[in-house]
Amino acid sequence: MRRKYFYHYVAIACVVLYIYYFFGVSDYIYSKKFEKEFNYPLNRNIQPLVREVMLGRKPAVAPINIYPYRFLTNSRKCYTLEKLDLFIVVKTARSNFEKRNGIRQTYGQENSIPGRIIRVLFFIGSDDLNSPVQERLDREMAEFKDIIQMDFHDSYFNNTIKTMMSFRWLYEHCSNADYYLFTDDDMYISVKNLLDYVNDDAFTRLNVAGDRGDKDSVILDNDTEKIILAGYVFNSSPQRFRSSKWHVTLDEYPYDRWPPYVTAGAYVVSNRCMRIMYVGSLFVKHFRFDDIYLGIVAKKVGLEPKHCPKFYFYKKKYSVDSYRDVIASHGYDDPEELIRVWNEQNAL
Ligand SMILES: *[C@@H]1O[C@H](CO)[C@@H](O)[C@H](O)[C@H]1NC(C)=O
Ligand SMILES: *[C@@H]1O[C@H](CO)[C@@H](O)[C@H](O)[C@H]1NC(C)=O
Repeated sequence: MRRKYFYHYVAIACVVLYIYYFFGVSDYIYSKKFEKEFNYPLNRNIQPLVREVMLGRKPAVAPINIYPYRFLTNSRKCYTLEKLDLFIVVKTARSNFEKRNGIRQTYGQENSIPGRIIRVLFFIGSDDLNSPVQERLDREMAEFKDIIQMDFHDSYFNNTIKTMMSFRWLYEHCSNADYYLFTDDDMYISVKNLLDYVNDDAFTRLNVAGDRGDKDSVILDNDTEKIILAGYVFNSSPQRFRSSKWHVTLDEYPYDRWPPYVTAGAYVVSNRCMRIMYVGSLFVKHFRFDDIYLGIVAKKVGLEPKHCPKFYFYKKKYSVDSYRDVIASHGYDDPEELIRVWNEQNAL
């Protein structure tokens, strides 16, 4: 009798321990409070450093996060005396040839909005540079001249590198656009709705967090440039389940919540924001999820991501009417579907 109970207890204890370990319960218990304790390397106010760099001066502390990768191709798309209205960065992978063609025929058409100057480039990593995929890509690059290839390994957990390298390219070669849209190659995008949204006069510079009077702040009170960092904003907590693809240890990130962040599928930033975010990233330690990383950088430079419900991080069910106001929707893996929906919306 007693013996039987003993084994029951042992079994229950094992289950409890297993749950405790597997679901990362201790990580939940020991995580620090984001609201009170958030700090992330560099563990200091980086705003004065960002300001110095943007004024062309040497910062008091050297940058800590410069990626050692190169651009294998370049583009002269921004070498124009005019200001661009919109620059679209499409994150894509080497073998997604059909998706890129679908985008070129839809929202990637640079003359789709009369009177607006729009440019589009695809950003891609590398693998084996002597493979059949690369040969086909080389032909595509020669034909369209709209791909920036970079020399790091293209993989999910290198997305932050892809994103920040594209910021670097913009900062160095294309700082003359009013707005920058960052999107993945499986999104539906309405450029017209996007431009209506960012050009709305009500939307001046609402994104500044923190103390306006602070003389160290990146954005000063007399600053008149538009400050926009907008998309679908998440307020969520790190995954501590050990089996999750998105599992994060306390060593990597010790707080109970993420900073507010825009989901990576599609988001828009104003010119000033692009430059502040890029320079800010030089002083913020790398983190492997790109959307979270941008959330951390935004928090460190004092920008508050703005939630715009017209960006859908999931696939919004299509109907002619339900898409009238949509700026972005996820889930367009099939280029033919993208072309059909885009044509129907643009015929309205
Ligand atoms: C990211 O790219 C670098 C440079 O190519 C490579 O060494 C590294 O293994 C890649 N990381 C992942 C997670 O693929
Ligand atoms: C904005 O204010 C700062 C500090 O008050 C001053 O140094 C700077 O010259 C001003 N900039 C402009 C464009 O007026």
